[in-house]
Amino acid sequence: MISQKMTDAINKQINNEMYSAFLYMSMSAYCSNIGLNGFATWFMVQYHEEMLHAMKQYNYLLDQGSQVHLQAIKEPPKVFASVRDMFEKTLEHERFVTRSINDIADLALQEKDHATYQFIQWYVTEQVEEEKNDNELLLKLKLAGEAGPGLFMIDGQLSARALTVQSDFSQGIVAAAP
Ligand code: FEO
Repeated sequence: MISQKMTDAINKQINNEMYSAFLYMSMSAYCSNIGLNGFATWFMVQYHEEMLHAMKQYNYLLDQGSQVHLQAIKEPPKVFASVRDMFEKTLEHERFVTRSINDIADLALQEKDHATYQFIQWYVTEQVEEEKNDNELLLKLKLAGEAGPGLFMIDGQLSARALTVQSDFSQGIVAAAP
């Protein structure tokens, strides 16, 4: 059993994760439109990762006997100034998500809600990875260049990104889901 305040905070976080999924799907579509299929693949894998993040929280609320409250997802941007602009927006968004995850951890400590504190630690670790990936890609773009052969080299590398997370939630979250 978790508090109503915690239930509200996790429902808000589900919305943040769903917005992340929307944002990365929009970026994926944009990359496809401009012929960067490797970047499109990278963002579409990211979309699935965000859906897993949301669904783990959805399942956690159900496990706690709490009510899931899905809220309207705001519209993401659909055009971007450059590939670097996309990754700068991605990093900025992930930093926002990290703050929001930290707020949930703080609330769990305040409420002595050990179950949620433990649950949210997975996200604390995940956010380090998310920000690291974006920082690395921004660095690569800076080194290889944002146009011409350098950009196509990175595009080719990103096309190898494969989906490694669960994407079918009809049976809930399976035990092996990372
Ligand atoms: Fe679910 Fe990218 O944070």
